Amino acid sequence: MSDLPETLAGCADAILRTADGRAKTALSKRCAAAWFASREAGTPMPIGQGNPPDAPARPDTPALMEPRDMPRRRPGSPSGRIALLHAVAHIELNAVDLHWDIISRFSDVKLPMGFYDDWVKAAEEESKHFNLMCDNLESLGSHYGALPAHAFMWRAASDTASDFLGRLAVVPMVLEARGLDVTPGMIEIFRKAELPEAVAALEVIYAEEVSHVAYGSKWFHFLCGRHDLDPKDTFHALVRKYFHGALKPPFNEEKRAEAGIPPDFYWPLTEAEPAPPKGARD
Ligand SMILES: [Fe+2]
Ligand SMILES: [Fe+2]
Repeated sequence: MSDLPETLAGCADAILRTADGRAKTALSKRCAAAWFASREAGTPMPIGQGNPPDAPARPDTPALMEPRDMPRRRPGSPSGRIALLHAVAHIELNAVDLHWDIISRFSDVKLPMGFYDDWVKAAEEESKHFNLMCDNLESLGSHYGALPAHAFMWRAASDTASDFLGRLAVVPMVLEARGLDVTPGMIEIFRKAELPEAVAALEVIYAEEVSHVAYGSKWFHFLCGRHDLDPKDTFHALVRKYFHGALKPPFNEEKRAEAGIPPDFYWPLTEAEPAPPKGARD
């Protein structure tokens, strides 16, 4: 373990600067193991001072495309299923970086140790999710990088690079919560296609993502309390500021509740901002 950076923020930066997905996630798992070993020994690794890159290192492939240029495939076809797994792999790789980025970028904010425990655990799980998706792609004769992937996945991170509460509102509480809404439908697609390995992998992701959303809600509420802010109003203001567009129902209300996101947090955001007064558009 001695070749790892000495601080948690240093580990985060090294992971963010590793381009290859399998190498990035292997380093992520080793850093997580070192963190939890240090916590158990009662000598926690220092948090240190982060120096994250603006955007994480990425492999040469997949080619990144604007969402509107992405080829459309039917989810019921074999190539559609591969495209779906590829899209999830891409999301998971970004999730690994998002979890380490928050640790590094906001390393100057004083937080209880439990915050780092939650974020490191989630980063380790995202690393597992990426590898599960890669394994499934490879068993179907493809691989991560074989298809184009969405550009702009890092936009939520760039937009909230100097707003810790904004980051928590948009990434775990909007984007990861959206994962809870759509994953059951994906599991059904692979169940119908009789691909039990993919079903099992997506079920692991579905179960573990509930706690990632819950970590977001927990620490969002913690910080609102620290700054004497109303959590619901603050959440609405930050999502309107940093998330581009309205939230889309149907919502997985049960899992969102389990993750500590009540309906009055997300339902009011299903509508675009109130229209400008009459005449303002002329
Ligand atoms: Fe994940
Ligand atoms: Fe996650």
